[in-house]
Amino acid sequence: MKGENWISRNTQFFLRKILFYGERLKVKIPDNIAAITPYPPGKPLDELEREYGITNSIKLASNENPWGPSPKAIRALRAELLNLHRYPDGSCYYLVQAIAEKLGVAADEIVMGNGSNEVIEFLVKAFVQEGDEVITSHPSFLMYQKIVQVRGGVNHVLPLKEMRHDLRSIQKKVSDKTRLIFLDNPNNPTGTAIPPVELYQFLSDIPESVIVVLDEAYVDFMDKKLHVDAFSLIRNVGRRCPVVFLRTFSKAYGLSGLRVGYGLMAKEIAECLHKVRQPFNINQMAQVGALAALEDEEYYLLTLDRTARGLDYLSREVERLGCKSIPSETNFFLIDVQGDADKLYQAMLYKGVIVRSMSAYGFKNFIRVTIGTEEENSRFLESLADCLGELGYV
Ligand SMILES: Cc1ncc(COP(=O)(O)O)c(C=O)c1O
Repeated sequence: MKGENWISRNTQFFLRKILFYGERLKVKIPDNIAAITPYPPGKPLDELEREYGITNSIKLASNENPWGPSPKAIRALRAELLNLHRYPDGSCYYLVQAIAEKLGVAADEIVMGNGSNEVIEFLVKAFVQEGDEVITSHPSFLMYQKIVQVRGGVNHVLPLKEMRHDLRSIQKKVSDKTRLIFLDNPNNPTGTAIPPVELYQFLSDIPESVIVVLDEAYVDFMDKKLHVDAFSLIRNVGRRCPVVFLRTFSKAYGLSGLRVGYGLMAKEIAECLHKVRQPFNINQMAQVGALAALEDEEYYLLTLDRTARGLDYLSREVERLGCKSIPSETNFFLIDVQGDADKLYQAMLYKGVIVRSMSAYGFKNFIRVTIGTEEENSRFLESLADCLGELGYV
């Protein structure tokens, strides 16, 4: 009789081969790939709860919309389930039309991505070859540098100055090998935005051979006075360098899980990006959910209003606790906790409140917190007050 744990000799042989394959791998791993530190994947919430022995945890760490997707998007998604045996529309016709109409650009000036992340990938694939240079800031959204590294490009990473992009240093760094400049505006993780006058001046000073990518993942939350005119910039009305705008449905529209974002750009640039993308890169649910969310203006405005009120409230309250907050144009903000941020992060985790320590970004005393629901915000403040006291920071 074969026992429960019986494994045939053949299976054992193959298992051993598979398990030890890593040690025998003869393939040369390219230096640029070996040098990459993988994006740290967060653990699923219930795994984290098991590990830390907590329940009812709240996650204020990924700048998501805490109120969830628009109810209209949820209804549209439910109905769409029945069509999942079909391939999606490779041109995202209806979604692209709706975005074009809303923003007053042409359909051929829009490129959809599996999250705006994917549009970053298209840009680098299409315009960066081995040895070409790309300029980014530190800290800023980490994926720019990683994708450039995969491509064998050269990253020039310039420190922020007073928590903002140092446009003057960036401009000085431009060489005839520069292909792209990435500016997240507002910046993640500081939440600061570039004043439009400074941005227009900067764009006028950049050579026309360089594409400036303005990553506007958080633009919905930004003060209207800080918005720049995407239409005239992508059409190059002022004869400046080409500008590409990145937008996403992951933040204000509450659809992070669907992965849908887009870029706005001159149609000649868009044509290049379409050449490097897969034919069905936006899945059917993402197309339907994003379209319904885009049309639900009421819910979108409600999200912006709730976020602004939450940000106001939390900024005030953390100052009352003795911390310093950095004014933000987004749905998150940085807090100087006046002590080691890693320790505070750990202490908050044990209370079931997940925030982001900024020490890996070089801000040893800062945490980044996403605005939550009213209930989550109160719970965050309570835990923060307790942890600050326990650690003796304030
Ligand atoms: C500045 C910035 N750009 C882009 C992204 C990527 O967003 P998406 O979910 O659209 O890929 C993020 C996500 O956090 C971000 O913070």
